[in-house]
Amino acid sequence: MSVPEYIELEGGDHLPRVGFGTWQAPPDVLEKAVEAALEAGYRHFDSARAYENEDALGRALNRWIGGDPAKRKKLFVVTKLPPSGNRPESVEEYFEASRRDLGLDYIDMYLIHVPFAFEHVPGDLHPKNPDGSMKMDHSTDLVGVWKKLLKLKESGRVRHVGVSNMNEEQLSRLCAVEKPACLQVEVHVLCQQKQLIAAANRLGIPIVAYSPLGSKELADALAAKTGRDYPNLLELPTVLKIAKAHSRTPAQVLLRYLLQHGVACIPKSTSPSRIKENISLWDFELTKNEMQELAALDRGENGRICDFAFFVGAEKHPEFPFKK
Ligand SMILES: NC(=O)c1ccc[n+]([C@@H]2O[C@H](COP(=O)([O-])OP(=O)(O)OC[C@H]3O[C@@H](n4cnc5c(N)ncnc54)[C@H](OP(=O)(O)O)[C@@H]3O)[C@@H](O)[C@H]2O)c1
Repeated sequence: MSVPEYIELEGGDHLPRVGFGTWQAPPDVLEKAVEAALEAGYRHFDSARAYENEDALGRALNRWIGGDPAKRKKLFVVTKLPPSGNRPESVEEYFEASRRDLGLDYIDMYLIHVPFAFEHVPGDLHPKNPDGSMKMDHSTDLVGVWKKLLKLKESGRVRHVGVSNMNEEQLSRLCAVEKPACLQVEVHVLCQQKQLIAAANRLGIPIVAYSPLGSKELADALAAKTGRDYPNLLELPTVLKIAKAHSRTPAQVLLRYLLQHGVACIPKSTSPSRIKENISLWDFELTKNEMQELAALDRGENGRICDFAFFVGAEKHPEFPFKK
């Protein structure tokens, strides 16, 4: 089964199906990793204001661009409105801060990161109450925020706008105004999001899979905090067996599964060899049987890792997207 390397977007832009994740990479480490990623052939970079490392990504990208507009055009840079900016009147300020730190004239895709909102506290993207819960803003007007993103697109400072972490009902609500250019959500073999992907397919919205390898740092941190067991995707017997059969790594099997499944993916690594490995996915193919074996690993909602439980109080927000 051949997989196209790009998703074609409105206006003929191309979103590479394998992108580079940047969450939890400290700025100095990220800068070097982005250089390695550019060298390995990545052109799609996934960032977010909330990751607090947009400036490092911007420095590495701008060194590569070297002021050449033709090189800039080859990149597809995504960043996201943080939860503390989820108010129509805050969008402009947060977007401009991202654009400034990335050092780019325009952003290729701007996403609403999550549907819930924090209070706006200058200088603090994750404001907390004394008891450790988040300072939530329950007055969120999601459609109003979405309309502001559409205005940004009209202004030419962003080429495409989309969403992340939305459920089917939220997607439909936004689609009544205008269809998002993509939906970025957690997808991997244990959390395959079959119903949501089917809904997005019906609406014609491409899916970008985050945490495609199971986000080990997050899973380890959550396991230490909650005592819950988070299986390591890279050590699942089915994945190991299929990797051996193709002389590939477990990570390559997990990523190739997503590509053959029709979704794009944005693995994160700061190791040059793993960065290369994660984009070397185009010269092997999983069989129908192997695809079925991997599909059977789905644990539905129980397979979700990034459930935002680390934002204590977010689950009470009226727009919290996940149901237990
Ligand atoms: N929209 C959202 O709310 C949201 C949420 C989560 C993530 N994201 C985006 O999605 C990206 C990817 O998700 P993620 O960072 O959560 O997790 P991930 O890509 O599933 O996993 C990253 C982990 O896997 C390790 N790794 C990477 N390649 C490997 C390989 N070939 N073999 C073995 N281990 C490997 C990395 O370690 P090394 O770095 O040491 O290689 C890191 O510990 C993020 O960076 C971010 O851009 C978005």
